[in-house]
Amino acid sequence: MNKNFLNDFPILRSQMNGHPIAYLDNSATTQKPESVVRSICGYYGGCNANPHRGVYELSVKATKVYEDARRKVADFLNAKSMQEIIFTKNATESLNLIAYSYGLSNLRGGDEILITIAEHHSNLVPWQRVAKTTGATLNYIYLTADGNLSAEDIDKKLTRRTKILAVTQISNMLGLINDVKALAAKAHEVGAVIVVDGAQSVPHIAVDVQDLDADFLAFSGHKMLSPMGIGVLYGKKKILDAMPPFLSGGDMIEYVEEQATTYAELPQKFEAGTQNVGGAAGLTAAIDYLQGVGFETIERIEHDLTSYAIDELKRLPYVELYGCEASNKVGIVTFNVKDVHPHDVATILDAEGVAIRAGHHCAQPLMKYLGQNSTCRASFYFYNTRRDVERLIEAIQKVRGVMHLA
Ligand code: ALA
Repeated sequence: MNKNFLNDFPILRSQMNGHPIAYLDNSATTQKPESVVRSICGYYGGCNANPHRGVYELSVKATKVYEDARRKVADFLNAKSMQEIIFTKNATESLNLIAYSYGLSNLRGGDEILITIAEHHSNLVPWQRVAKTTGATLNYIYLTADGNLSAEDIDKKLTRRTKILAVTQISNMLGLINDVKALAAKAHEVGAVIVVDGAQSVPHIAVDVQDLDADFLAFSGHKMLSPMGIGVLYGKKKILDAMPPFLSGGDMIEYVEEQATTYAELPQKFEAGTQNVGGAAGLTAAIDYLQGVGFETIERIEHDLTSYAIDELKRLPYVELYGCEASNKVGIVTFNVKDVHPHDVATILDAEGVAIRAGHHCAQPLMKYLGQNSTCRASFYFYNTRRDVERLIEAIQKVRGVMHLA
């Protein structure tokens, strides 16, 4: 079914430990199609120069590549304006930008920040630090037994004291989809802003920031076919306009005097220093590719692979699954093999050519909440196939034998 995709991704036709690779670590990073690789080479081979700074043709070309990427992202997210799109290094930098610029200047003692226990560290640690500095309190929404956000917790903890609700749209460990549109409405009712961590959602489902009424949304390029080192922060213009800069230096200024500086307009105010134009070129090609596939197709394939994997794993009595009973779930299956450490499982799977992630998945509080030290995680993208799932299952079936437990 996905033959055409494999033709576009040379790495997926390669071998790992003498086996064709079954790449199932897409929540960590995705592979890149040839069109993305070509666009990066095309930029460096044809129009590399420092953007915004030169009047010569090459610099103007680099500026155009960079600003065309911004237009592409704005349209992709249905932002109202290009000024609402800030390029960063990744979702982590975008979330830090919000925490340190918006958080530090808007929070004080007595205020509350509300996040969920399913956040990965990028949408958790910055809020801990900002809470400590400002005297605000960091509160958590916990999960119900099936892994969804507790509605009771939301109603109890989202109050007039809440100034920031920061929530992942899809959790990186359980793959659960949160209804951020409903959460945004609730946050706005109490006068809070909502920060949406889109690192695991933007690559997999259609995201419309105006429809969600998100105040901020962060994502990384590398989890959606683009190179590493390019990420995006979306923010409503009115909010971004009122925020102080995050990083300071070249390109984010208007006038600099010995003792004072005035800042550039959006989006440059938040883009200090030379930016990743090659990454932006790659992101443009990645969005073109994803739009060519279509999010309906992407969701359909990932849904099929996820349910197939869950059904097959449920047949193995020595496999324990986490968050797999929830209805709102996509692309991620988290499990353990009884009596075997996840790192041993991942190493045995590696020998069979199957790449998964094992560990705490940058979500230690969630791990603790689930009563685990670590788990195995298989995460799919549209280019994966049912054969990849079968390879996963066949490899898992060997694990206990290799460990002399069978
Ligand atoms: N957040 C990334 C993951 O889930 C690193 O693997």
